[in-house]
This record gives sequence, structure tokens and C-alpha cells, in this order.
Amino acid sequence: MVTRSALIYLSQREGLKEFASRFRPFKKLTTRFVAGETIEEAVEAIKLINADGCTASFDHLNESVTGQAEAEAEVREYLQILKQIDDTGIRSNVSIKLTQLGLDFDLALCQSLASEIASAAAALGRTIEMDMEGSAYANKTLDIFEAAQREHKNVGLAIQAYLFRSEKDIARLAPLRPKIRLVKGAYREPAKIAIQKKSEVDANYRRLASLLFEGAARGDFFPAIATHDPAMLAHVRQEISRLKLARKQYEFQMIYGIRRDLQEEIHASGHALQIYVPFGTDWCPYFMRRLSERPANCWFVLRSLVAESFHPPR
Ligand code: FDA
Repeated sequence: MVTRSALIYLSQREGLKEFASRFRPFKKLTTRFVAGETIEEAVEAIKLINADGCTASFDHLNESVTGQAEAEAEVREYLQILKQIDDTGIRSNVSIKLTQLGLDFDLALCQSLASEIASAAAALGRTIEMDMEGSAYANKTLDIFEAAQREHKNVGLAIQAYLFRSEKDIARLAPLRPKIRLVKGAYREPAKIAIQKKSEVDANYRRLASLLFEGAARGDFFPAIATHDPAMLAHVRQEISRLKLARKQYEFQMIYGIRRDLQEEIHASGHALQIYVPFGTDWCPYFMRRLSERPANCWFVLRSLVAESFHPPR
């Protein structure tokens, strides 16, 4: 899609971030999807989420980890976040991406840093969740997840419905009784390993959600249904009724700023909802991806740009 490629190209240009920060409608839109640049700003956003009755997960945006020193700095950032969670008493966990901890260049380092974060969280009675990135990382991510969950018992993992392998991965993880965050999948993957048609990804999402909920009824999983798709949500609600699951046996998850109407509806109907809260100075690539997922977001920016050039702010 042209818009998607153009936005991703733009996100890599020097100066875009500065422009975005100065151009008011753009800035307004960024603050809708990104909770701030500092931990303190994210904590304030999470306090509001908690006040609305939802829990949260910190996501520290950082796509530029290429060496050991940066990976270790990332761990320090997460330890700081955990300290803030403990000091402020907010209801939140943390989400980590293993490429931020060296998955690309040092597997042993990555495993030990992930374990360090899980251990620090466990000491505070908190949990962590591992995002699932591109398929090239899937095997290593599963291995690191298994080791950390076996040792600390407070780790969840995202599983992508578009991958053919996901059903087997779910079966493999059942003995660890983990929290599984079921997502559709956000990366471009080849047809050899991933379903390409949206309707078929949706069908597999429903199937895997049912598997996870049947597992939840046996006590094997804690399913976290991470989607903004009303059709997926309707299916899951039916499964919850069919299997007579209690509120504490599963949760829904959505992303900060996306489909706030659905967030309210899910929460109002008595389900547990966790909001994924991205923050950090490296917000530009993340923000451009969110824009590119939905043409309406781009139209909002363009309309505002035209309107402001006719009525510049004083
Ligand atoms: P779908 O793409 O069909 O969108 C359904 C509806 O949601 C749209 O019609 C629109 O209304 C709304 N919507 C979706 N994106 C929007 C946007 N950017 N702006 C405005 N509205 C939008 N992926 C991954 O590969 N690894 C991971 O670890 C995670 N982690 C994760 C955590 C959480 C909490 C969520 C909700 C999602 C992820 N994802 C992820 C992303 C996921 O794979 C997927 O790309 C997005 O959630 C979009 O898919 P939906 O299920 O929302 O459905």
C-alpha cells in the first residue's frame, strides 16, 4: 500500500519528528497514540486508565538497539519502570520486545537480560509480557519465553493468528500455564509460513481463541484477547458464555488511543481490559505504523494540515 510505504519512509527521515512536534494537529494525534516521552508521563496516563477501571502494560518504544550497551540500557529503563510501578502503586505490568535486549546479535545476553527483568518484576509481585516480533525471531522467542516462565512464573507471550505454526506453539506452551496474548499479527510474512487473506486470518483467530478458552476452562491458559475487531470480540464473548468462564479467567487487551469506543464498551460490560501503553522518545516509527494501518488517520492529518494553512494558529 502506497500510504503505508510512504509513511514508513517518512518515519525514517531526520526532521520529521521535529516537524511533527511543532505541527499542532500532528502533535495532537501523536499524543492520542503515544502516552508521552518519559516514564512519568506514561505513569500519569496509566493513572487515568486505572481510574477508568482498566489495567495497563508499559511499552518502551526503542527500535535502535544494536549493541550490548544499548540492550543493557534498555534493561535499566525497564527496572526503572518497575520501580515507578511499585512506588506509585499503579495497576500495570511491562511488555518487552526481545530485539531490544539483543535478540539480533547475542542470544545468551538476550536470555539473561529477559530473565533479569522477569526476576525484578517477580520480586515486586508483578508480571511481564513478551511481544512476538517477525517470524525470524519466533523460535528464539519461544525458547527464551519458556526458560523465563519456567523460572519466574510471571511471563506472558504474544501469539500471532496469521502464522501456520501458532496452534502447535500453543499446544507446546500449555504445560507452563501461561498468559497468552492472542493477536492477528503485525508484520509482513511470506505465504509459505503465514495466512495472507484477512478473512482466513480472522477464521484462524476465532479457532485459536476457542482453543485458548477451552484451555482456560481446564486451567491451562490465561487468554488475553488482543484485538479491536468487533467480529473477533463477538466470537470471544460467545465462547466466554458457552464455557461459563469467570471474569478472572481471561482478559481483553487493546492499544492506547485505538477504538476508545470499544474499550469503553468492553469495560462497561464487566470484562477485564488491559491497555497497551507505548511511550518513549523513539515514538516516530511506532506512530507512523499506527497511522498507516488506517487511512482515516491519515485523512485526519491531511485535513488538519490544509485547515491550518488557511487558518494558521496565532
Ligand atoms: P483489524 O486490523 O481487523 O482492525 C479492527 C479494527 O480496529 C479496524 O477496523 C479499526 O477500526 C481498528 N484499528 C485497528 N488498527 C487501528 C489504528 N492503527 N488506528 C485506528 N483504528 C485501528 N502484533 C504482533 O505481531 N505482535 C505483538 O506482540 C502484538 N501485540 C499487540 C498487543 C495488543 C494489546 C494489541 C491490541 C495488538 C498487538 N499486536 C501485536 C498488533 C496486532 O497483531 C494487529 O496488528 C493489530 O491489533 C490490528 O489488528 P486488529 O486485531 O485490531 O484487527
